Amino acid sequence: MHIGTTLTNYIIETQRHIKGATGEFTGLLNDLAVACKKIADLVNKGDLVDILGTAGSENVQGEQQKKLDVISNEIFIEALAHNGHVAALASEEMDEVYHLPADRPRGKYLVLFDPLDGSSNIDVNVSVGTIFSILKAPPGVENPEPAAFLKPGTEQVAAGYCIYGPSTMMVLTTGHGVDMFTLDKHFGEFLLTHEGIQIPEDTQEFAINASNMRFWEAPVKRYIDECLAGKDGPRGKDFNMRWVASMVAEVHRILTRGGVFMYPTDEKIKAKGQEGKLRLMYEANPMGFIVEQAGGACTTGRERIMTIAPRDIHQRVPVVLGSRNEVERVTSYHNG
Ligand code: AHG
Ligand code: MN
Ligand code: MN
Repeated sequence: MHIGTTLTNYIIETQRHIKGATGEFTGLLNDLAVACKKIADLVNKGDLVDILGTAGSENVQGEQQKKLDVISNEIFIEALAHNGHVAALASEEMDEVYHLPADRPRGKYLVLFDPLDGSSNIDVNVSVGTIFSILKAPPGVENPEPAAFLKPGTEQVAAGYCIYGPSTMMVLTTGHGVDMFTLDKHFGEFLLTHEGIQIPEDTQEFAINASNMRFWEAPVKRYIDECLAGKDGPRGKDFNMRWVASMVAEVHRILTRGGVFMYPTDEKIKAKGQEGKLRLMYEANPMGFIVEQAGGACTTGRERIMTIAPRDIHQRVPVVLGSRNEVERVTSYHNG
């Protein structure tokens, strides 16, 4: 594959590596690309069209839905439900599994997605994104049950995200490394711009919402205290900090120049009866797959995310991901 190749050609080539794949996988990734291009166009238009602000509804997580959360979800359904490439869908913005209309052909994949990640950034014109995870559907099942989606991250056939930033980029893995595509708006195509992304093993940059500091568990507090102590502390080097509040943007930065991203559990989260803030099935698992494929690591702080046996489509987990040596350090603070 060469730099500048179109996503369409790349997908056709990639399909050759996937056991048992027919044209359906190519079709599915094309559908996803179309959905992301539509969302990119709307995000880009911003206030010129009526997409900003709240929708006046709540999702299953009890979070206020933004108009663009709802619209992006509809764009995904529209792009994926009619072409015979998927058997069912699950999304952050839908309480239940989405079953296809009775007259639509069923395909052999399941897609889980976060149609718009970083919603709090939409109205302030900061990068947002879309995250997706692709699983095999159980064969011959007309309307797969939620249980069909509850597979560990290691079962993902592919995962990716699209970042709507200064440029729109699609980042993909099918288990053979991580490649990045940049949308050429005039051409209307994603073109391959970075191949075989590798996250540096070491980093001096961390990302965490420090406003939660007083609720953190001791191992997280210890790790951040040591980073903040810089040259004068046990790490013997200064650290930099970033927090965009869009997981897609944080992961994109880490894939580009390394770093560690954490959304740990804390006393406030536990008081709500939850285990974490981020969602396992359409945030942590796809990002974990991408980060591991780029040579990084992704854990809850205690165990590898990708081997968790899921119980619920909207299950939440603590997340620590990025440069391998830092993730291992944080994990060892929890387990040691
Ligand atoms: P979403 O917009 O899909 O609900 O996800 C937002 C997530 C994630 O992208 C980000 O890292 C985190 O929530 C931000 O949380 P804080 O607002 O607590 O910083
Ligand atoms: Mn999200
Ligand atoms: Mn979202």
